[in-house]
Amino acid sequence: MRRLGLCLLAAVFPAVLPALAADPFEDFEPVENALVVAAPAPARDGDDPVVQRGRYLVNLLGCASCHTDGALIGAPEEARALAGSQVGIAISDPMRVRYPAVVYPPNLTPHPTAGLGNWSEEDIARLLREGMSRHGGRALPVMPWQSYARLAEEDAVAIARYLQRLAPNPHRAPAQVPEGEPASAPYVHVGLYQRR
Ligand code: HEC
Repeated sequence: MRRLGLCLLAAVFPAVLPALAADPFEDFEPVENALVVAAPAPARDGDDPVVQRGRYLVNLLGCASCHTDGALIGAPEEARALAGSQVGIAISDPMRVRYPAVVYPPNLTPHPTAGLGNWSEEDIARLLREGMSRHGGRALPVMPWQSYARLAEEDAVAIARYLQRLAPNPHRAPAQVPEGEPASAPYVHVGLYQRR
């Protein structure tokens, strides 16, 4: 890689591999991005122009490319579109620590326990535009709310309304893994930078 480059790396079952590795990427393999993942048709109010606009924006902004099983690696599972990912994203540096912290993009369908069933439209719109979660904490930057901060309020609400009209899906993404603990499921690490 002689030029400025961006690599996507995936850990392969880090838990079963030896604890110490001289090469920090010994356990990793390069992966390719999966195909574009389409946002599914909503289960309710599909003709409502606000819901249609929300679906258009979810497609445009690529939410399903993280929040869908098989989208980060493998083949996207249509039946689980936007219902959370079993492949996580490393949020600390695997070159520095053996086991980086890993977050798994959560379920965005309105399932009451597994998804956003208890979120209001305002809660979702606020997370998109300000990165503020329901309980006031800041969402991790890996959820690219900074890129969505300039959404018009009505567009953020349209996205929220669309998500709330999806069929509730009970699929659960794994819980966040703290740094130092082996991840329970595979993950990708995005962004290797080489100056020249
Ligand atoms: C690059 C991957 C990525 C993309 C693209 C992405 N997200 Fe996320 N999203 C995440 C991750 C990871 C989290 C968990 C963040 C955390 O735990 O702080 C998350 C969290 C969320 C949450 C909070 C859910 C909860 O249960 O806490 C919502 C709502 C959300 N995303 C909606 C969206 C929408 C809508 C889009 C498209 C406009 C989108 N996301 C695009 C990765 C992504």
